[in-house]
Amino acid sequence: MVTPQLLCRVEDVAEGEARGFGPLEGYRRKIVILRRNGALHAWLDACPHYPGGTPMAWKTNAYLNGEKTHLACHSHGALFDMESGECVLGPCLGQQLTRIALAISDEGEIFVAAAQEEKRA
Ligand code: FES
Repeated sequence: MVTPQLLCRVEDVAEGEARGFGPLEGYRRKIVILRRNGALHAWLDACPHYPGGTPMAWKTNAYLNGEKTHLACHSHGALFDMESGECVLGPCLGQQLTRIALAISDEGEIFVAAAQEEKRA
């Protein structure tokens, strides 16, 4: 059984922003959390362009494109829908980021339930 790990707090990610946390035990990459239309979404910081996944930000927390409309991989310019994780432009068109399931406590703490990414490794 995997113990949930504390990632951050709900107030750590403002509307329209994306931030990376970790990596946590069992994860080989950071987890990117973004808030879009009030909802939190979490993705593994691993672009699907190459097997194994490439970290996407060119500097700390630089996960969005300039217009802040999409998640971006700054290696080769792939753009991903923030809510579905699908690549909509770039060399991995149609591929998906790995969604990370979150659990939020009544106190506003965000936990990651399990190291799900290892299923894909
Ligand atoms: S590694 Fe992300 S677009 Fe090439």
